Amino acid sequence: MPSLSQLSQNQLEQYRRDGVLVLPDFYSAEEIAKLRARMQDMVDEFDPSTVSTVFSTTDREQIRNAYFLESGDSIGYFFEEGAFDDEGNLAVPKEQSLNKVGHAMHDLDPVFSEFSRKPELAAVASDIGYQDPKLLQSMYIFKQPRIGGEVVWHTDHPFLWTDPVSVTGFWVALEDATRENGCLWCLPGQHKLAPKERFRRDGDAGSTYMEILDETPFDVSAAQALEAEAGTLVVLNGLLPHWSAPNTSEKSRHAFTLHIIEGTADYPADNWLQRGPGMPLQGFDTVNA
Ligand code: FE2
Repeated sequence: MPSLSQLSQNQLEQYRRDGVLVLPDFYSAEEIAKLRARMQDMVDEFDPSTVSTVFSTTDREQIRNAYFLESGDSIGYFFEEGAFDDEGNLAVPKEQSLNKVGHAMHDLDPVFSEFSRKPELAAVASDIGYQDPKLLQSMYIFKQPRIGGEVVWHTDHPFLWTDPVSVTGFWVALEDATRENGCLWCLPGQHKLAPKERFRRDGDAGSTYMEILDETPFDVSAAQALEAEAGTLVVLNGLLPHWSAPNTSEKSRHAFTLHIIEGTADYPADNWLQRGPGMPLQGFDTVNA
């Protein structure tokens, strides 16, 4: 781990109090452009007829499929619900049809690995208390113009469960994120509440289900918009509730997310995201892509 520190004492106290920290200009325009260009190449090479998986958090039934469950240690392409017409044909151009790409680009692609292993990001992880951080999940989120879907209120820990709780989300704006194109919203301070749900693999490995631990809904009356210019890093505690609206605007809202966990924490065998034996989780220092 690099020894340089990124966060001031004030920022650390703010993060502990709110469960969220916004760091503008964390990534340069050049770093952002390089990642976006790499994803553009990946999308150009992608043949949509090879998959037809629609990602939706409003209808979780649709993510119960092998393609999703196998994407923990590969690179999967997930479409928007509005991307297809009634006959199942793409209703928008391919490059505007994708909801996201995930979940192991940080270990499988050199450009994504470099972006994810930026030394300053490793320093943030160290600053907020990680001893042995492991890079668990990466996603490129498109939030397409007009059809970019809502991501319902949730916290990340139920999806990337560890004992003790250890997940942190790093969310990077690759384009300016505003209220108009579906920026993040969050509930500062509510990361101190116990998890309300837990996403599990079923025993037969072919499906998943959501275990409800607390039916009380989040109190969203104090929701705060996290408008962010391109290059901004948002650090999200794994128990901080967050949400984003559908994008009904004409502008996309690309973002990159990386989720890390503590290497010493227990990682359950019924978490949806599992790595094959040949692909153990790695830290910030390992560059193998
Ligand atoms: Fe999330």
